[in-house]
Amino acid sequence: ISASEGAGPGTNGTRRRSEGVRGEADRALGSEELAEIGMRFEVDGEIATITLDRPDKRNAQTFATWSALARIGSTLPGHVRVVVVRGEGPSFSAGIDLRMFTPEGVPGQGSFASVAALDSDAFERRIQEAQQGFLWLRRPDIVSIAAVQGHAIGAGFQLALSCDLRILAEDARFCMKEPALGLVPDLTGTKPLVDIVGVARAVEICLTARVVEAGEALRLGLAEQVVPREDLEAATAKLASALLTTDRAAAAATKRLLRGAPRRSLEEQAAAERAEQVVRVQTLFAASAAPER
Ligand code: CAA
Repeated sequence: ISASEGAGPGTNGTRRRSEGVRGEADRALGSEELAEIGMRFEVDGEIATITLDRPDKRNAQTFATWSALARIGSTLPGHVRVVVVRGEGPSFSAGIDLRMFTPEGVPGQGSFASVAALDSDAFERRIQEAQQGFLWLRRPDIVSIAAVQGHAIGAGFQLALSCDLRILAEDARFCMKEPALGLVPDLTGTKPLVDIVGVARAVEICLTARVVEAGEALRLGLAEQVVPREDLEAATAKLASALLTTDRAAAAATKRLLRGAPRRSLEEQAAAERAEQVVRVQTLFAASAAPER
């Protein structure tokens, strides 16, 4: 089961893991560990907020950022329904930490020169680990919202794309910079980009590495909302609250249906709707028919 698909009606990753032996990877990172990486994680009721918190470096991302994102996903408290991803300071994220391109790299994490020396399989596994930080944000049991101000470049744009929804401040600027640096976007951003804007527009955006400003992002469907910078937090909180008003299991089932729709034929989608609805109605009926205690 991929992180993007979820486990199907009535199950979730958190429960499966808690049934097994808990290892280091199942331990939630503490606030001090996250602070060292330049991140924060807060839970308020059913809403969790992940903050990239290195504003002085425009929230540049490292391998540690991606491992921490993955760990937050794998240890997310089961009651969380909405995950907000935001960046502290003037920019959402300036993408990969450019020290990765230097011979010295990022202390304790190496550089592109050191990962390039790995054999191809080991290198791919390293990328796959990094991608885990992004994939879980599409899980059906949660809805993820990126709240974006300022620059969202490369890995920053891909992080925003990995969320279900995007709210942009008027000064938000997306840029898929990777091809300009001799790389491809590999942090799971190409699929949502193509799904949203189509292949032709995605080719144009990526291969020119140009800036997509908030107004254009809204027109292209890359943003659900654009708000004045000072309203970003409140607009995000309002959307998060609105997402909590629907039944949780129905919301998860509906998200599964919607996420799966592009790869199914009409007939397959109709069958998927039937299968989900049977479970919904049976569950609702079983609940209402349960004898009172
Ligand atoms: N990595 C490391 N440090 C960065 C950084 C990055 N990606 N982006 C900014 N910083 C640092 C700057 O070096 C500077 O540090 P000092 O104060 O110590 O000098 C600080 O953040 C502030 O930067 P600016 O003064 O440039 O801030 P600004 O607000 O004027 O500009 C910006 C912001 C437009 C994002 C600009 O900093 C910039 O262009 N950054 C580089 C963006 C970039 O090319 N990212 C790589 C994208 S590709 C990718 O992400 C690949 C992948 O996934 C594999």
